[in-house]
Amino acid sequence: MKVAVIGAGAMGSGIAQTFAQCDDVEKVYLCDIKQEFADGGLNKIKKGLDRLVSKGKMEQAAADAITGKIVTGLSDIAVDPDLVVEAALERMDVKQDCFKKLQDEIVKNPDCIYASNTSSLSITQIGASLSKPIIGMHFFNPAPVMKLVEVIAGINTPAETVEKVIEISKQLGKVPVQVNEAAGFAVNRILVPMINEAINVYYTGTADIEGIDNGMKLGCNHPMGPLELGDFIGLDICLAIMDVLFEETHDNKYAASPLLRKMVRGKRLGVKTGIGFYDYSNGPRNKVPTDKK
Ligand SMILES: NC(=O)c1ccc[n+]([C@@H]2O[C@H](COP(=O)([O-])OP(=O)(O)OC[C@H]3O[C@@H](n4cnc5c(N)ncnc54)[C@H](O)[C@@H]3O)[C@@H](O)[C@H]2O)c1
Repeated sequence: MKVAVIGAGAMGSGIAQTFAQCDDVEKVYLCDIKQEFADGGLNKIKKGLDRLVSKGKMEQAAADAITGKIVTGLSDIAVDPDLVVEAALERMDVKQDCFKKLQDEIVKNPDCIYASNTSSLSITQIGASLSKPIIGMHFFNPAPVMKLVEVIAGINTPAETVEKVIEISKQLGKVPVQVNEAAGFAVNRILVPMINEAINVYYTGTADIEGIDNGMKLGCNHPMGPLELGDFIGLDICLAIMDVLFEETHDNKYAASPLLRKMVRGKRLGVKTGIGFYDYSNGPRNKVPTDKK
């Protein structure tokens, strides 16, 4: 199987690694809007694998075999994939344009499956003006580690495509969960409003950043606190999901926190920009809550 991953950011690089680790995959095209971004995605994968090799958790030859399957470039290198997984920005216009270009101009395989890793957008709407159907194949961060894949059918997604994507997810060693199309699907519908609520708890002065995160870790047994998780996901992604939930439901319980919106406007997106609720200047392991600086 050949796979094209469109977008080499946090998710795209992890998804490319996940496919490259699978014996049934012979080649992965990792594509972005600039060659340097695609190369950056591959470098991130190499660094992660180097860490595993240095800890004795992986042989160098196995790491080389994984990276050796990955070819980087712009989307136009994805000529013959069996599966496309789009992991570009969480914007309807960007996703629609990506798929249109791939389907009409680039991909020559008539049986190619087109999947989006969208966190919240309507699969039906992404596919509305396209010649071939779209399916949701929603990985979780970090993709090589997290077991879940939400498989989401839009109204025009053939049942056969759903079955194939469930099968591919199992080949990757993942646990696919089929969900019906709804804003935020299942997991983000629950998770992201919780993160948004944690931001409001901080915004209204109820507790400080560490207090909120420790509260949820120690009181609810969550492995990460909601504010550090928001930083890890990317606060821009969290805001995009809240806005989709609100636009689709018009329910005020999904209104994005004003602080979340302000932080995104100020490019305080979390780990990816080096600052969010925590300051990552000295690396993620030595993060400092911004209200303690
Ligand atoms: N961050 C998460 O935890 C998470 C989890 C699951 C799903 N997602 C979804 O995955 C997608 C990507 O999220 P991310 O966190 O990796 O974002 P990111 O900002 O880290 O990466 C996005 C990448 O896409 C590239 N890109 C933008 N437009 C493109 C185009 N037209 N063609 C090719 N590449 C393009 C950007 O240059 C960037 O490298 C989003 O839809 C997001 O909602 C994110």
